[in-house]
Amino acid sequence: MGKLLIKNATVINEGNRLNEDILIEGDLITSISKKIQIDSDTQVIDAHGLILIPGMIDDQVHFREPGLTHKGNILSESKAAIAGGVTSYIEMPNTIPNTTTIEEFNKKISIASINSYSNFSFMFGGTNDNLDEIKKIDPTEVAGIKLFLGSSTGKMLIDNLNSIEKIFSSTLLPISAHCEDEQTIRNNSKKYKEIYGENVPMELHPQIRSEEACYKSSKYAVELAKKTGARLNVFHISTRKELDLFNNKLPVEEKKLTAEVCAHHLWFTDKDYKKLGSKIKWNPAIKSQSDKDALWNAIKEDKIDIIASDHAPHTEIEKQKSYFNCPSGGPMVQHTILSLLEESQKHGVSIEKIVEKIAHNPSKIFKIKKRGFIKEGYYADIVLVDPNSPTFVSKKSLLYKCGWSPFEGVTFSSSIHSTILNGRVVYSNGVVNETPNGKKLLFDR
Ligand code: DOR
Repeated sequence: MGKLLIKNATVINEGNRLNEDILIEGDLITSISKKIQIDSDTQVIDAHGLILIPGMIDDQVHFREPGLTHKGNILSESKAAIAGGVTSYIEMPNTIPNTTTIEEFNKKISIASINSYSNFSFMFGGTNDNLDEIKKIDPTEVAGIKLFLGSSTGKMLIDNLNSIEKIFSSTLLPISAHCEDEQTIRNNSKKYKEIYGENVPMELHPQIRSEEACYKSSKYAVELAKKTGARLNVFHISTRKELDLFNNKLPVEEKKLTAEVCAHHLWFTDKDYKKLGSKIKWNPAIKSQSDKDALWNAIKEDKIDIIASDHAPHTEIEKQKSYFNCPSGGPMVQHTILSLLEESQKHGVSIEKIVEKIAHNPSKIFKIKKRGFIKEGYYADIVLVDPNSPTFVSKKSLLYKCGWSPFEGVTFSSSIHSTILNGRVVYSNGVVNETPNGKKLLFDR
């Protein structure tokens, strides 16, 4: 069993900043102390000047396999994840076929068992007619149920109110919902189509996928969760107004209702459409500076519980299409942590708070076994960040299959120095230096 000692790092974990050394034996953290005795064969990393954090558990990614592998696949996107410090991910069901049966779910687990660089699990999609399948799910194997209450990439809209209520009432699994009101979007689309035809300017995306669309749908989901007692996490909150639906009165372990924000809503604003156009066309849309500021504030105040990437690659050719034909989404996973570390400073949010939202809370909310913390007995999923080594995002540096990023040309002031996955250094010196070795996430339920 290999031993690895990481010494002299600043360890950021559970709200603390410590100067402790960390001993890893096999795939687990076995000691956290200043006085660790080592054998002659223990590998040592001197992490002086580096920040050590638990690897990100990104609970919202689209890796496109099976069925959409021209955009990305589990191998390519999980490799980019590792380079970005994402040591675990939960992948979405809008692949082809949709992940709405146990059979399709198990196929994804088989692919990832061979091809995933990062630890993995998957969401199970809820539809208007798959309640019987949902009832068969083993809760220790499946991350949760994803419901597209608003349509997006893939045909996964669930719009039968009776079916939605039945799912909310009958599953004990966490439900994650994409909330945008379909009728509002249709009305707005019609209005702008009448004016512009196919060539609606991209900067009108937040008028079409509007604040009203977000609020109406999030409110509906929150009220339904309260009525049924379901465990609901509302994905990608993008507006100031929606934040009124959530509170910070309880510790996250006791909340049945949680809110999530994505890194792109914390970086870009509607001013960026002029320069970046469809590269920042996401569902929900990037909104105003005032919305962005409110989201950062909600992180500070614990109204937002999780930060995710919503990594959603499309090809450059697909992204060049006109408004109604251009898919929403963009690749994020390689720079999520760096963008959060950068922008958090401008909003007075500590690294401790970021670590809580990207690692501790996803672990708690999904009840992930032994991950998300720097703790003895936990898996050694660790990221070393160099705060003094800038990262310039060039096309060449990207590991995404789609080969582009909305961050191209940006320089982040820090870099991912290395990523340790299940006790092995899988990324260092800018290179992913192992074969795929991710493990399936297990859930304590
Ligand atoms: O912008 C988005 N793209 N939002 C989603 O919810 C889905 C995603 C995708 O799969 O492309």
